[in-house]
Amino acid sequence: MTLDRDFWEGRWSQVLREHGDKVAKIPPNAWLTEAVGDLRPGRALDAGCGHGSDTLWLAARGWQVTAVDFSTAALAHARSTAETIGADVAGRIDWVEGDLAGWTPRSGRYDLVTCLYVHVAGSVEEMVQRMAAGVAPGGTLFLVGHRPIDPATGAPTPAAGQVQVSVDEAVAALGTGRWEFVVAEDRPRAQAGTGVDAVIHARRLS
Ligand SMILES: C[S@@+](CC[C@H](N)C(=O)[O-])C[C@H]1O[C@@H](n2cnc3c(N)ncnc32)[C@H](O)[C@@H]1O
Repeated sequence: MTLDRDFWEGRWSQVLREHGDKVAKIPPNAWLTEAVGDLRPGRALDAGCGHGSDTLWLAARGWQVTAVDFSTAALAHARSTAETIGADVAGRIDWVEGDLAGWTPRSGRYDLVTCLYVHVAGSVEEMVQRMAAGVAPGGTLFLVGHRPIDPATGAPTPAAGQVQVSVDEAVAALGTGRWEFVVAEDRPRAQAGTGVDAVIHARRLS
């Protein structure tokens, strides 16, 4: 299975056709809300925003969000959800159709860069470095990857066959000099038997 744009467009089109109302009510990611809930709102990038629940939560808290995804269907749904919530939230979001295989944030532009559960087609280290370059000094990088194997059972998870960010690769990509690691650990997922998430929360020092 190739997790390319056609795959995701087909997946989102089907899911949104069958369960669009439920998707619009998906809560923001719990690791994210815990990590950035106390940050002062500024400019944020949500890379691989999908249905947009994290983007919407950030915008509702006053963040000016650039939300990137390569699925037209997901972006259209997320935009429509934002408009339903209200003009103030919708007005703080810039929805961008782009492929993260090459899409590069403007250097140092964002106070927060998040990238959650995005399959990486190329090198994880290269992708992490490209996203990290968008973080301003003093800003936050927040990455989550679903690990492909459940360490508790050795069984494949729903992310089996995917390349997502891991703690080791993210730490290696960022190095130690310019980043403070607030969190860099594997955490069990709330739903038993679905494996663990690699959670990386780093603050750019310079
Ligand atoms: C598993 S979903 C995660 C969505 C959201 N970040 C979340 O945590 O709920 C992965 C998302 O990444 C998007 N995606 C995957 N590869 C991408 C790429 N190369 N460029 C842009 N978006 C991509 C997909 O369209 C999908 O919306």
